[in-house]
Amino acid sequence: MTIMKVTVGVCGGVAAYKSAELVRALQKQAFDVQVVMTEAAQRFVQPLTFAALTGKKVLTSLWTEPETGTADLVSAIEHIDAAITTDALVVAPATANTLAKFAHGIADDFLSTMYLATSAPVIVAPAMNVNMWQHPATQANIATLEARGVTIVAPASGYLACGMTGDGRLAENEAIIAEVLNHLHSSLDLSGETVLVTAGGTREALDPVRFLGNRSSGKMGYALAEAARRRGARVILVSAPTALRVPSGVELVPVITTSEMRDAVMKHLPEASLIIKAAAVADYRPRVREEHKMKRSGPLTVEFEPTEDILAEVAEKKLPGTLVIGFAAETENAIIHGREKLLRKNADAIVMNDVSQEGIGFDSDRNAATFLTRNTAIDLPEMSKRDLAHRILDEVLVLRRPRLVIAETGTDLTGL
Ligand code: PMT
Repeated sequence: MTIMKVTVGVCGGVAAYKSAELVRALQKQAFDVQVVMTEAAQRFVQPLTFAALTGKKVLTSLWTEPETGTADLVSAIEHIDAAITTDALVVAPATANTLAKFAHGIADDFLSTMYLATSAPVIVAPAMNVNMWQHPATQANIATLEARGVTIVAPASGYLACGMTGDGRLAENEAIIAEVLNHLHSSLDLSGETVLVTAGGTREALDPVRFLGNRSSGKMGYALAEAARRRGARVILVSAPTALRVPSGVELVPVITTSEMRDAVMKHLPEASLIIKAAAVADYRPRVREEHKMKRSGPLTVEFEPTEDILAEVAEKKLPGTLVIGFAAETENAIIHGREKLLRKNADAIVMNDVSQEGIGFDSDRNAATFLTRNTAIDLPEMSKRDLAHRILDEVLVLRRPRLVIAETGTDLTGL
């Protein structure tokens, strides 16, 4: 089973002592917990407390020797490594100061640097004096962070350590953990699976500076990789060039050409229990790649040859029990062509998207699809690629556990 890693950031406030209980509660949910403390937090609670609870060194500084500011390579890359490998960053208590740093991109300690470097979901639970909480500066920072996708677990109201009464008490652990589970998909229903996702558009070189490519941004494939990871899978992402950040905890295998993508997919095929081919793969490549940049001289004819059909080869060579899900980018007679692709390439399912529709498909944050199997066609109406990724995975799991429907009423009991 894949164990998800949660980083708990502790800031300097009276509520810092409550973070120890939070660490325990997260461990009870089977998360692997790493603690990061700000300098101020260490004035309230000793790092030793968290080291004893987690059995791990508490990350406190960007420098090996905080007093002298000297760093070795290990400490210099530690925050990047922590940021890349964590599945969620939970900051509790989050002080007004740390929230301000997050909102303004100030990276002057381990926690604020890690915040900028991570692509994992970030959950902050503020705790502070009521006037600090209600101050327009703090509220503006909260609004900025919310707009950037940070989840805020609002402070509770009550008696505060400063003697005042009002909003500012650290939220209960149950509320914080509910958000963590919400982000990391409470059921972890892909735990134990190794999901191989392909993403982006492959490039076929004409000469050293030019290539034949397509409009794929990789967003659909990256959303699938992120969703599968959040649902507990080990995820290998074979990606053609994109401008996207690799989702936290996902293993990236970068490729450029169709041939490289084919080799990477075949190399990892024996490890995969589920393969999702969201990449827009070139069907043809120039028969000859010119050694030098081609000179402009009148009309040009380029001869192309077909590339390897990766999806068909995967379906042929996969181990028994491995599910193979292809995509189909269609512009006309979408369902007919999608189903024809399903049969011809012998996939278990095809996610057919009609890329002729405005605002969805290539290089958009939104998409709509039909999940086609040999005998079903499930409509997945327009939504964000993130949501669609989860809906696709829901349908993939139905292939593992067949749909249970009462014939007379049509009531779907799957998942009950
Ligand atoms: O990347 P985005 O900007 O987010 O856009 C998403 C998307 C539109 C690219 C994606 O949703 C999509 O439709 N991906 C498949 C695009 C494609 O290549 O479709 P196709 O109908 O040409 O290919 C069918 C299937 O065969 C695909 O799973 C493809 O990965 C695979 N294939 C195609 C050719 C080839 N030589 N080898 C393959 O494995």
